[in-house]
Order: sequence, then structure tokens, then C-alpha cells
Amino acid sequence: MIEEAAKLLARSRFAIAFTGAGISAESGVPTFRGFNGLWKKHRPEELATPEAFRKDPHLVWSFYRWRMGLIRNAKPNRAHYALAELEEMGILKAVITQNVDDLHREAGSRRIIELHGNIFRVRCTSCSYRENLKESGRLDEFLEEKDLPKCPECGSLLRPDVVWFGEPLPRKTLEEAFKLAERADLVLVIGTSGVVYPAAYIPQIVKETGGKVIEVNPEESGITPIADVFLRCPAGEAMEKLMERVRRLM
Ligand code: APR
Ligand code: ZN
Repeated sequence: MIEEAAKLLARSRFAIAFTGAGISAESGVPTFRGFNGLWKKHRPEELATPEAFRKDPHLVWSFYRWRMGLIRNAKPNRAHYALAELEEMGILKAVITQNVDDLHREAGSRRIIELHGNIFRVRCTSCSYRENLKESGRLDEFLEEKDLPKCPECGSLLRPDVVWFGEPLPRKTLEEAFKLAERADLVLVIGTSGVVYPAAYIPQIVKETGGKVIEVNPEESGITPIADVFLRCPAGEAMEKLMERVRRLM
């Protein structure tokens, strides 16, 4: 199976990756659908919604501050680095991710499409103010603060610049992802349950336009039925073995 996947990758002319929370599991970032009970009594699905934010912004902000703190200390793992290397080798053209954790960027991937936003960015609920707290150097101060975060321009409430359940994805980002998927002759799907739409259309589009689907996941997922090669394995281990073979083939 690994050999087959390596051959497909080495032969492909326009490969893309499609990643989900599972690729960051080995970096210590909890996945969503395996997350139960980790954060107090709430499920992320109940907190990551516009309704929850309207009803109890304190609760939602304490959840996001908790996740920001946890993710800030996480380091990319072998799978993130493998994708950066595949791009450097000219095989991978882009990483389309559902993750907000910035670990693809930390690992050195260059063309990254973040379908669901980025946890280190905040934006104003009234004006067009946006800030990347990692880049502005305000992350520490932001995490220590207990009050609701306010816009420095207009004083309104800030929110995380991520896509919540029930919200549309940024149109340009989604269009770019769909275009890449139409063009791709191969998609490497890593660590996603493949049940959240429209993101989950990405591998389907690749498949429907004649491309191959390689999946890495220790469990079966919504993508498994369309996978040409299914590597039933944690991401780090699978990608390390795959890279050894791809390097030899190139
Ligand atoms: N390596 C690879 N895959 C793994 C690993 C691992 N070490 N550990 C777990 N997985 C797999 C699980 O088997 C599961 O299929 O990762 C997947 C994680 O699934 P979800 O938690 O549903 O995450 P994801 O698919 O990214 O969720 C999609 O839902 O909550 C929203 O917006 C959020 O972007 C997120 C979207
Ligand atoms: Zn504002």
C-alpha cells in the first residue's frame, strides 16, 4: 500500500493535500470529534457557533483562549514536515486545510489554503478591523486578559477569525480550493473525518475529475469509500514511511 501510494505521488504532476484535525493529533492538538469532555462539559460543536457567541461570549472566548494557549505550544510533527518537503520537491502544489492551528505554516508549507480561518487571528464584529496576534506580538497579553476583547478602532466586541458551524466559508478561499481540486491529479487526504461540508467536497472533486485519492487515517472516514489507496495508520508514521519511498523514487 505504501509503495503504491509513493508511486502515485512520484508520478503525479499536480498533487494537493487536504488535511483535518487528525494531522495535528500527534502534535497534541485534540481533534473535534474525538474531543468529548476535554473542555469542561461542552462539545466544540456547541461552542463554535454564532448563536453560542451571541448568547454567551464569555464562554466562547474562554474556550478559544484555552485553545489558542494549547495550540501556541504545539509543534508541527513529521506529517506537517513531510507536506512541506513534498512541496519543496515540486510534487505538492498546495495544502488545503480545515485546521486553524497554523502548523502547516510553522512546518514551512508555502501555499496554504485555510478553509476555516486561523485561530491566531481576531476580527471586529462591527468594523473591518483584523489582527493576527502572532504577528502583532500581542498574543501573551491577549491570553492573560480575562475580559471580553474589544476592537482598538471602534470598541466593539472582537471575535475569533474562524468559520463557525452554520457560517459560510470565505468565498474566494473556497473558489481557490475548488479550482485546485479540479486541476489536481492526486489528493493526499490526511486526518479528516470528511463529514463537514463544503470542505469535504474537495477530495470528491478530485476523484470526479479523474484524479487519485490517497487517504491516511487510523480509522475509516467519510472519504474512505472513494480512496484509491487507504493507509490505515497515524499520520506521522505513514508520512515518514511514504517519504522514504518517495525520496528513493525521485
Ligand atoms: N493521524 C491521522 N488521523 C488521525 C489521527 C492521527 N494520528 N488521530 C485521529 N485521526 C483522524 C480521526 O480518525 C478522524 O477521522 O482524524 C479525524 C479527525 O476528525 P475530526 O475531529 O472530525 O476533524 P476534522 O475532520 O478536521 O473536522 C472538520 O469540523 O469541527 C469542525 O471546523 C472544524 O475543521 C473542523 C471540521
Ligand atoms: Zn471595530
